[in-house]
Amino acid sequence: MIRRKIIAGNWKMNKPAADGGALAKDIVEEIGRETSVDIVLCPPFTALQGVGHALEGQAIKLGAQNMHPEKNGAYTGEVSAEMLRTLYVTHVILGHSERRTYFAETDAFINKKVLAALTHQLKPILCVGETLAEREAGSTLAVVQRHVEAGLAGVTKEQITNVIIAYEPVWAIGTGKVATTAQAQEAHAYIRALLTKLYGAPLAQKVRILYGGSMKPANAAELLAEKDIDGGLIGGASLEAKSFIELVKAADAAK
Ligand code: 13P
Repeated sequence: MIRRKIIAGNWKMNKPAADGGALAKDIVEEIGRETSVDIVLCPPFTALQGVGHALEGQAIKLGAQNMHPEKNGAYTGEVSAEMLRTLYVTHVILGHSERRTYFAETDAFINKKVLAALTHQLKPILCVGETLAEREAGSTLAVVQRHVEAGLAGVTKEQITNVIIAYEPVWAIGTGKVATTAQAQEAHAYIRALLTKLYGAPLAQKVRILYGGSMKPANAAELLAEKDIDGGLIGGASLEAKSFIELVKAADAAK
């Protein structure tokens, strides 16, 4: 397989700085420097520095959960790509459904962030996916297409392999309701086809597409065995070292 699997933990609004540092240390101790899977920890902003210290010299990467597209200025409460870079952040989750829903983020705004992240050498993890109502209305693939095409507008052939896409059906997030492997693979294959149309097959084959939505040790192996599922963006199961490490092991076994 030419694509290295990725297991990324989205801690969401959990883990104050001290707890985050401790969790990162536990994960580092278990995994060590050698790993065949790309691992990314995405703590809240306040824990980035502490987690970054715990990851120093390790193979595990540091990610943020959001950023603002501008470099600096009067944007109260926001953080720029450049600021994240000074904390050794390498990845940033963008367009998560919780940001689309609770903070009214649009595709156009998310696209600005994707472009700004790439300009500053941050790898965006662009989240896409339909709500339950959209799935029931039969518009899953149309929604995924809109999220992918609008989110990637202006991303060049030189940049696209630095983008990671996460398919996260909204109805599966935090609900314990995981997409069936067939539902997930269908969406992933569709995203790969969209990437092929936009960038050509050789580049599309290199882009990693993660699944997110109630992924846990019990269901990971089956999902990760699918042809176009290149890893996971994990919420709940990333908050404990034991389950997160089990997911890394499942990705290692599936590679
Ligand atoms: P859960 O794994 O808690 O369902 O969350 C998934 C998610 O939103 C990751 O970004």
